[in-house]
Amino acid sequence: MSRKILLDKIGIAGIETFPVYRSNGGYASVEKALKMQPADIVEEVKKSGLRGRGGAGFPTGLKWSFIDKKSGRPRYLVCNADESEPGTFKDRFLMEKLPHLVLEGMITASIALEANLSFIYVRGEFRWIIKILEKAIVEAKEAGFLGRNILGTGYNLEIVVQTGAGAYICGEETALIESLEGKRGNPRIKPPFPAVSGLYGNPTVVSNVESIAAVPWIVNNGGAEYAKIGVPKSSGTKLISACGNINNPGVYEIELGLPVKDFLFAPEWCGGMKNGKRLKAVVAGGSSVPILPAGLFLKTANGEDRLMSYESLADGGFATGTMLGSGGFIVYDEDQCIVRNTWNFTRFYHHESCGQCSPCREGTGWMERILHNIENGHGKMSDIDLLWDVQKKIEGNTICPLGDAAAWPVAAAIRHFRDEFEWHIKEPKECMVRNFGIAEPAIV
Ligand SMILES: Cc1cc2nc3c(=O)[nH]c(=O)nc-3n(C[C@H](O)[C@H](O)[C@H](O)COP(=O)(O)O)c2cc1C
Repeated sequence: MSRKILLDKIGIAGIETFPVYRSNGGYASVEKALKMQPADIVEEVKKSGLRGRGGAGFPTGLKWSFIDKKSGRPRYLVCNADESEPGTFKDRFLMEKLPHLVLEGMITASIALEANLSFIYVRGEFRWIIKILEKAIVEAKEAGFLGRNILGTGYNLEIVVQTGAGAYICGEETALIESLEGKRGNPRIKPPFPAVSGLYGNPTVVSNVESIAAVPWIVNNGGAEYAKIGVPKSSGTKLISACGNINNPGVYEIELGLPVKDFLFAPEWCGGMKNGKRLKAVVAGGSSVPILPAGLFLKTANGEDRLMSYESLADGGFATGTMLGSGGFIVYDEDQCIVRNTWNFTRFYHHESCGQCSPCREGTGWMERILHNIENGHGKMSDIDLLWDVQKKIEGNTICPLGDAAAWPVAAAIRHFRDEFEWHIKEPKECMVRNFGIAEPAIV
């Protein structure tokens, strides 16, 4: 199971330049799409079963089909390249190594959506990638694939690179749209969804970099062929950024449905645990998804091998399962402290909360303070239940899912590793995995 359709050209010298990319079959999907009816392109993407690779896994073709074309208002495609989820670093890899694949996908998707102006919203810290993308845009324009009258067909398209300013919230699609409009990145209440009223109140599709990069293959080979890759409901390939205590951290393209044990232990993927340590836990899809202990991660509750797919990772709901999310795969060995990790994630969410919704604004700070105290030897047993209560009150009670993203890791850590929290409280100068002494004063 090692089919590559996104990273198949990665080893070719100079593939980031237009001439090399083009001579290796690049931009064929644009030529094909320009001869197709836009609705038929959307239909192929629907048939492919491609699900959004930004985290939520919503079917891409279906989302595209919601775009309002009847009103006659301008339509926009926005490629979401904000990629700020801790543990996720696959979009930056695609943009850096294969910028023309991302552009080809954007042009093909823009043809399908009948958009004449598209944006790529790039995380501000990716300074070098912004230059790579801008260079690729100039090259594509010089070759007639962008700008006015593309390939003599009368179709016009401009692509604008817009940089963010390093706010995680601006990856949420409506906050991103606000930011693109020059405002503070506060998420909008939905409905209306962006497909009806997005950028400047006009119909807009926001799609992740990886989702867009899959489009050229789908258009070239047909949606039905794409649907044959992977497993039912989780078709195609997925980029996984693997990090933590493994031998081979990196970005991998896997065929969905690969058993998690193969991905984790086989030498061609993560290559097993570093220094022969034991596997303790895995965060399978970026910091927002529930952490699972080794046993539950490798096997589902009914004893089947867990697979790298949307359904298998979610098997058992949050009681025993997790999510594929954005594919940020973080592996923990026996020496890692789950309390410390949860504190670390919570600090991030508190810092990144936009502050618009009280449960998230207040709750993330509250969780951070409780976790700080438990981690630093000042915790009380009742803090564990308090922490549980606070995360429960955030979940589902905010305008955007940042609240859920902050709550789920805390809930899962308590659900599966409650003994570690208790240990920290009973033995305030140590934790289950290491001695550390009281590090920081209590926050009251
Ligand atoms: C707090 C937050 C941050 C997000 N960050 C990103 C991001 O960096 N990149 C991304 O593609 N989607 C991100 N999303 C999801 C987007 O809102 C949206 O669902 C996605 O861009 C849609 O693209 P897709 O359908 O191709 O997955 C984020 C969501 C939330 C709630």
